[in-house]
Amino acid sequence: VRRAIVTGGASGIGAGTAERLASAGTAGVVLDREPAPTLPAGWTATAVDVTDAVALGQAIDDAVGALGGLDLLVAAAGVVPPWQPTGELDLADYDRTMAVNARGVVVAIEHAAPALAAGSGAIVVVGSLNSWRGDPNLTAYAASKHAVLGVVRSAALSLGPRGIRVNAVAPGPVATAALRRRLDQRAAAGGPAPDEALSGLAAGTALGRIATIDDVVDAIEFLGGPRSAAITGHLLPVDGGIA
Ligand code: NAI
Repeated sequence: VRRAIVTGGASGIGAGTAERLASAGTAGVVLDREPAPTLPAGWTATAVDVTDAVALGQAIDDAVGALGGLDLLVAAAGVVPPWQPTGELDLADYDRTMAVNARGVVVAIEHAAPALAAGSGAIVVVGSLNSWRGDPNLTAYAASKHAVLGVVRSAALSLGPRGIRVNAVAPGPVATAALRRRLDQRAAAGGPAPDEALSGLAAGTALGRIATIDDVVDAIEFLGGPRSAAITGHLLPVDGGIA
C-alpha cells in the first residue's frame, strides 16, 4: 500500500487529490488548518497551520509514524491574497502569502524528504499559472508561486540522487469554490460580474474552457506515480492552453 501526505487536503484540489489517491488504494493523512468536511475512508486529518514550522514538522513526523513510511507528499495548501491593484500592495498580505505558499512548501519538503521511500518516493507541489506568469493584481501570489518553482527545482536536484522526484502542477483558473470567492471579491471591488469573468477566463484558453479539479488531480496523480518515473524538476501546466 502506498502512503501519502496531502497538505491543504480539506478542500478543493487537495481534497480531490486525497479522494483520488484513496480510490487507488493509497493510505494517507491530510494536513490542513481547517477541519476536513469529508475524508476518504481510512484516512485521517491533523489540524496544522503550514506557517508554523515546528507544528508542521511534528505533524509530518506523526503522519509518517502512523502510516509506517511515506511514498508521496502532495503540497496543495495555499492562499490567494485579496485582489490588490498595482501600487496598492499590502506588505502584511505579501508576507502571509509567502509564508503559506512558499515557506510552507519548503518546510513540508524538508521534513518529509528524509522519510520518503528511496527509489520511488515523489513530491508534487501545486503551483499555479502564476508560477511562470505575472498578474498586476496578484503580485504577492505570483511572487509566492514563482518562489515555489525555485523550491521544486532545487529539491529535485538535491533529492534526485536518492531516486526521489519533485515536480509541480501549474493550474490556470480551476472551477473551485476558492476561485468563485476571488471573482466575487473582484466584482465587489468594481471588477466584472463573476459569470462574465468566468466566461472571459475560458475564452482566454486554447480549449475554450477552464480546468476542473479532476483535470488537475489527473496531473498530480501522474507526477506522483510510477508513470512519470523519469520526470523531475518539471512544471506541468493544466490550464486549457493559456499563451
Ligand atoms: P482551497 O482554498 O479550496 O484549498 C486550499 C486549502 O489549503 C484549504 O483547505 C485551506 O484550509 C488550506 N490552507 C490554506 N492556508 C493554510 C495554512 N496556513 N495551513 C494549512 N492549510 C492551509 O483552494 P484550491 O483552489 O483547492 O487551492 C489549492 C492549491 O491550488 C493552492 O496552492 C492554490 O494556490 C492552487 N491553485 C488554485 C487555482 C484555482 O483556480 N482554484 C489556480 C491555480 C493554483
